[in-house]
Amino acid sequence: MIEYGLQFSKQVLRQSIQKGDWVVDCTAGNGHDTVFLAECVGDQGRVLSFDIQKKALDSTFSQLKERNLEQRVKLIESSHAYLTEYTNKELAAIMFNLGYLPGGNHKVVTKLESTLPAVDGGLGLLKKGGVMSMMLYPGHYGGKSESETLIRYAKMLPSKYYTSLHYHFLNKNSNSPQLLLIQKK
Ligand SMILES: C[S@@+](CC[C@H](N)C(=O)[O-])C[C@H]1O[C@@H](n2cnc3c(N)ncnc32)[C@H](O)[C@@H]1O
Repeated sequence: MIEYGLQFSKQVLRQSIQKGDWVVDCTAGNGHDTVFLAECVGDQGRVLSFDIQKKALDSTFSQLKERNLEQRVKLIESSHAYLTEYTNKELAAIMFNLGYLPGGNHKVVTKLESTLPAVDGGLGLLKKGGVMSMMLYPGHYGGKSESETLIRYAKMLPSKYYTSLHYHFLNKNSNSPQLLLIQKK
């Protein structure tokens, strides 16, 4: 049994990412997901990793450097809302791990006004078979409406072009983390 949506998301992403692919981490945070993506794309691949907090990018850089992976990653201190201004490459995967930086300022959180344009722009860049993964945290202030809107968005995507999946626990608190996965057909 997979206890946490992020583990499930990584299993799916690992299968969709090939060596040499371009992928994006929309929320670098402490760098765990960026490290995971950098390992998946290999030496010839590329990860673009966004965060609005320098502290998060510094911590991501340290994680990468420790593992000798920093050459595979471009760290971008900007909102993911501007994703399409930074690349027009076809992407094999896009990860969002929403909410606030663990160990950081809990008032700096992802917000729908930037998450939605990032999701929208990101879907446009996904290649066929590419996967967008979003960890949702309804428990923090503003997280519930962000999560609900993104779930509605994913539900409305035309099934001719996308498969969307909502992964959540049935016998846990309704505020526990949830996962959305969208695959381009
Ligand atoms: C839950 S943390 C990410 C965890 C991270 N993926 C990891 O592996 O440690 C969420 C991050 O999103 C960042 N964030 C908030 N709004 C953002 C935005 N508009 N664009 C990019 N990053 C943003 C926060 O600064 C925070 O570092």
